[in-house]
Amino acid sequence: MPRVLVVNGPNLNLLGKREPDIYGTDTLETLNKRLGDLGKEIGVELVFFQSNHEGELIDFIQREAPNATGMIINPGALTHYSIGLRDVIAGVKIETIEVHLSNIAAREQFRQHSVIAPVCRGQVSGFGFYGYAMALSYFSDTNTRQP
Ligand code: DQA
Repeated sequence: MPRVLVVNGPNLNLLGKREPDIYGTDTLETLNKRLGDLGKEIGVELVFFQSNHEGELIDFIQREAPNATGMIINPGALTHYSIGLRDVIAGVKIETIEVHLSNIAAREQFRQHSVIAPVCRGQVSGFGFYGYAMALSYFSDTNTRQP
């Protein structure tokens, strides 16, 4: 069974309360529960992690990547400036999909650039929860995903 890391960065623990007009009213707990249920249905094991700290995210990825098929990551604000996070994704060499709840291309200019995207398989942005679900469905498809 594929084992996929689901990593959320800074402030995503505030989902539900934080700018609901942009990020919706679901909490991270609800989102992870929905994704977990989907994982069970399609036969993908998920390992969830959220942190507000860059170093903790990097430690988690270094530790878990060797035993993972891939990673779904919403790096939050770190998307736009964290070379450390970019380097760990490039270094561990598991396929990674970058997800954003909002459409970052349609927001402030500083959000339109991702330093993470070039080291990812791809980016899904603007579909709320479904961005995570799309990424999950990619990892469930053994014909498409890279070995
Ligand atoms: C976000 C977009 C980022 O610009 C922002 O800093 C976030 C959330 C998103 O999911 O839309 O924290 O990653």
